Amino acid sequence: MNHIEVNFFRTMSVDDCFMGMSNTKTYILAGSNSAIAKETAIQLRSQNHRVIEISRSVPEGENQFQIEKYELGSFPKIEEKINGLVYFPGTINLKSFGQLSMQDFLQDFSIHVLGAVAFLKSYLNQIEKDGKSSIVFISSVAGSVGMPFHSSVSVSKAALEGLTKSLAAELAPHIRVNAIAPSLVNTPLGERFINSPEKLSAIEKRNPLRKVGAPIDIANMINFILSDQANWITGQVIGVDGGMNHIKL
Ligand SMILES: NC(=O)c1ccc[n+]([C@@H]2O[C@H](COP(=O)([O-])OP(=O)(O)OC[C@H]3O[C@@H](n4cnc5c(N)ncnc54)[C@H](OP(=O)(O)O)[C@@H]3O)[C@@H](O)[C@H]2O)c1
Repeated sequence: MNHIEVNFFRTMSVDDCFMGMSNTKTYILAGSNSAIAKETAIQLRSQNHRVIEISRSVPEGENQFQIEKYELGSFPKIEEKINGLVYFPGTINLKSFGQLSMQDFLQDFSIHVLGAVAFLKSYLNQIEKDGKSSIVFISSVAGSVGMPFHSSVSVSKAALEGLTKSLAAELAPHIRVNAIAPSLVNTPLGERFINSPEKLSAIEKRNPLRKVGAPIDIANMINFILSDQANWITGQVIGVDGGMNHIKL
């Protein structure tokens, strides 16, 4: 009995109190209807962090804001101090270069890159400049690996990676900026590439770890990069991709 009481006291007094009060942070997720964003929000909330969601499809509610487009002037005013921003919006617009119109390139660039710029401009002044705050962009393996039919998404994600590095330099040592680059993940965006056993098997065979990603695989890394445990990491594009970016079997 004594043994149980002692352990309970130790846990409550050190870990829970620390997590519950002094370590609570506020994060804004743009594009919060993304499957990866939803998993990220679950993880952050389970650690007692405050999550503010912005999406074209989220119902308006406490800490939830609906906007029409990810562009300057659309983002809600949020007055409080922010510890981290994550920008999720993206597309997988795969067509041959000949089929991609100028409008396709413009639209993809606008969603992936200009939306991220507008998001950051909207909240940069509120971010705590304490050397721990963290901005995370979601790139793709297509940002650095050449793949057919990916020219539009590739242009956009490569630009996002450039923005990551440039901003990491400009905002150091006050704010960290990193990107995460997944390979194919099982979300509504990736679903059409794996919606039959044959397609799934073909995609799995191309991956060094023989696996399509799950939202939790990416959310785990986002969560880590947002956390103080990653406080010496900035300017990085981190592949969470089963090895697709660097391994050839
Ligand atoms: N799934 C993959 O295989 C994969 C691979 C590499 C990289 N990624 C990247 O991961 C990020 C999250 O995507 P996900 O896989 O989680 O897919 P998802 O669940 O289908 O979510 C799609 C995301 O893109 C936004 N979006 C979709 N169409 C849009 C449009 N026309 N205009 C503006 N926003 C639009 C959605 O915003 P709302 O919240 O407003 O709906 C949502 O944030 C994207 O940046 C994507 O490029 C995904």
